[in-house]
Amino acid sequence: MLKQLSILRHISNKNLANRSIFSKIESQSKSSKNQVNIIDVKNNKTSLELIVSIDKKEKFLCFDPHWLRFNCQSEHSRQIGTGQRIISIQNVPQELTIESVQEKDDCVVIKWNENSKQPDSVIPLEFLVNNNPSELDNGDRYIPCEEIKFFDYFDLVSPSGHRNETKIFEWLKDMMLYGLTIVKNLPIQKDMIKNLAELIAPIQSTIYDQLFDVKIDKNPINIAYSSMGLEFHMDLMYYESAPGIQFLHCLKFDRQIIGGESIFADAFQIAEIFRHKHPDLFLTLTKIPATFQKIHIERARPVYMVYQRPHIVLNHRQKIVAVNWAPPFEGPLANLSTEEIKSYYKAYIEFAKLIYSYEKPIEYRLKPGEVACFNNRRILHARNSFIPNNGIRHFQGCYINIDEFKSEALVKEYQIKYANACKNVNHIKLDLRKTIVGNQDNY
Ligand SMILES: [Fe+2]
Repeated sequence: MLKQLSILRHISNKNLANRSIFSKIESQSKSSKNQVNIIDVKNNKTSLELIVSIDKKEKFLCFDPHWLRFNCQSEHSRQIGTGQRIISIQNVPQELTIESVQEKDDCVVIKWNENSKQPDSVIPLEFLVNNNPSELDNGDRYIPCEEIKFFDYFDLVSPSGHRNETKIFEWLKDMMLYGLTIVKNLPIQKDMIKNLAELIAPIQSTIYDQLFDVKIDKNPINIAYSSMGLEFHMDLMYYESAPGIQFLHCLKFDRQIIGGESIFADAFQIAEIFRHKHPDLFLTLTKIPATFQKIHIERARPVYMVYQRPHIVLNHRQKIVAVNWAPPFEGPLANLSTEEIKSYYKAYIEFAKLIYSYEKPIEYRLKPGEVACFNNRRILHARNSFIPNNGIRHFQGCYINIDEFKSEALVKEYQIKYANACKNVNHIKLDLRKTIVGNQDNY
């Protein structure tokens, strides 16, 4: 039980020099939507415990001294404007204890032990609440993808080119949470896909160039450029940063073509089922790396890419933060013992069986003008083989980077929710911040 300690609510003469810091932070936190009040403080010297109330709910927070020092928000620790930390690490000693704590203008002001020679640290209460380092978040941070969310291009952008930021945010939010949307009514013209993708971020150029055409080619550089079926996979797993969002714009899909439907499946969900059914095999696929490769010298732009990574990536709390799956682009396992290879194949075959037998794939025949937009780091995609019957099936595709996509979604959330309230973006919690998008972010 915490003891009620006195909190100095008046700035001392000694702290007057920090008034300019206070006024800056004060102005940033004035428009606080959720009022944070300190109920109780306990300074243990080597930790700081707070009980705060937020919207009439009590919350317990506990901070390590170094965490507090390195998250000081005053201008001697953060550059105003960029928000970049400017603390010189070598000047922060291992021996750092909290001498005293004051509350001032919705901030805590920390005095450090004198021999540490650290300036007072100032941290807004709202920042402490929203960045509580010990808050273990084990909840699901995405929504299983079991249906397609549709959007209309002309709801995102008017015919005169005016962006509807609220609608674009809705689209980004569904892309973040579900991983799959279809945008209808993108004008059926070559290269229009660029206009849609660039509503979010610049095109991610790859060995298939900025824009690629998915249609039958006599000498395909990828089996996608034929009428063959494609099993579930993710694109370009042999890149260190495989493409994030993939866009496929249907330019032509003649009626007489039999087959050719697109199929999608949520790899995060399948991996969770795998963990539940086969916990040992699941762990094997988090530890033993597969080899992803694209080695193709006889093409206009010769390629030799090899990248080893496990099929399933966990964070330090055992949460799935990435799934990597691309059987057509797997090369020889390497740098592994015979036992490891045996364990790998046992797990690999079972995981593949689960993917092939997944009960909730989404099958859809794209129509001209529609764009499938999906998170290539989470959603597996496949295609039924097709019989052309003299018809043409022509999609045009491109990618954007996963980190830039996530950034844009968060920026939009901030701008739409908070911009008018002049809130400091570093102090607030964004709902989408912890959404898992498959980029191996440990959150
Ligand atoms: Fe693909």
